[in-house]
Amino acid sequence: MTTRDVWDPGRYERFQFERSLPFFDLLALVCPVPGLRIVDLGCGTGALTRRLHDQLRPLETVGVDCSAAMLKQCEPHVTDGLSFRVGDLGALDLEGRFDLVFSNAALHWVEDHPALLRRLVPLLNPGGQLAVQVPANHEHPSQTLAATVASRPTFAEALEGYVRHAPVLSATRYAEELHELGFAEQSVASRVYVHELPDREAMVEWVRGTTLTDYERRMPADLYEKFLEEYRIEVARVFPEATPFFFPFQRTLLWGQLDG
Ligand SMILES: C[S@@+](CC[C@H](N)C(=O)[O-])C[C@H]1O[C@@H](n2cnc3c(N)ncnc32)[C@H](O)[C@@H]1O
Repeated sequence: MTTRDVWDPGRYERFQFERSLPFFDLLALVCPVPGLRIVDLGCGTGALTRRLHDQLRPLETVGVDCSAAMLKQCEPHVTDGLSFRVGDLGALDLEGRFDLVFSNAALHWVEDHPALLRRLVPLLNPGGQLAVQVPANHEHPSQTLAATVASRPTFAEALEGYVRHAPVLSATRYAEELHELGFAEQSVASRVYVHELPDREAMVEWVRGTTLTDYERRMPADLYEKFLEEYRIEVARVFPEATPFFFPFQRTLLWGQLDG
């Protein structure tokens, strides 16, 4: 199996405005306390980490990501108290504790969310806050059709049978997990963000910039071109062309605070 760094910051940032909406909703859940130490897990290009840092004016913010291409884009955002480093969210090796563990649209790349949340709690100081947004649109055809194509024999061999299943939990389960982990205060919400994209191909581009990277990194480039071709055909079967193209996107936002 091939695994490549297939994150394309240009493609990802094409929908920067749409993607920033849940980020600002998530940020609004955070209690702004002076002198915070913050970690942003899966910081991507760092543009939103910079917004987080500028708005909360913490003592320190550290952005963590595993993609060299994404981290390269973070470089211009480095400023007093704001730094970025390479790290794997599945095996975090961060030094010290934080007052805010923040993550926008990244934790859905890590399996087993109950176990993941259990690993995040020890990163927090007493009174620490956890703020996470994860996409929860895995039932939308833009996602299920990718799994349909991946299951076809042409691709299943290269993928060694791998089909992406989103590890995200229901909003209710997240609330239960936060409760069990000792978050004295919490807020969990499921929200549908409605987007009007220029056309159907724009939705394909959106999915290419995120979910499809999981297939792209597992197969040779020429096979991935074929995968995309078949994915486009399936998408066209389900969605008639429309301009603008309506793209509803469900997400879950969770916030919790430990006792001080
Ligand atoms: C959809 S982007 C979100 C970026 C940013 N938080 C934002 O809101 O714009 C997801 C990011 O998670 C990173 N990521 C995915 N799996 C990861 C892992 N296991 N460890 C570290 N970063 C990961 C990717 O490299 C990518 O930059």
